[in-house]
Amino acid sequence: MSRVTVSRKAHFNAAHRLYRKDWSDEKNDLVFGKCNNPSFHGHNYDLIVSVTGIIDQETGFVIDMKVLKELIKDKIEDAFDHKNLNLDVPEFKDLNPTVENIAVVIYNKLRPMLDEKFDIEITLYETARNYVTYSANNL
Ligand code: NI
Repeated sequence: MSRVTVSRKAHFNAAHRLYRKDWSDEKNDLVFGKCNNPSFHGHNYDLIVSVTGIIDQETGFVIDMKVLKELIKDKIEDAFDHKNLNLDVPEFKDLNPTVENIAVVIYNKLRPMLDEKFDIEITLYETARNYVTYSANNL
């Protein structure tokens, strides 16, 4: 049986600030630099959600892309797009919204919605050159 990975791309714009409340301003500036701007700053995030599984013999699909598309829209785009991640998204109330942490939050929001038979991988671009991947398999 053929295991195939299918991927769906999505996009959201969001603002954030990287800092720790328990650190001094100097230490926040030293570690987070411009990302510690108190006025926040934005990124155009590109998201790729990859689903690996067996091809269904009846449909020829691993997963119905319409289902995956709607899931990403409902759970991620509607929750994050045009939001301030620090202020508007509860998951980041006490979690620094680095691209690493955002990828893990996205994974944790989508994983319970997808059949256990699938392996899921999240790729998240914060800029054209900076991106992370997370699949929870490499723990
Ligand atoms: Ni940033």
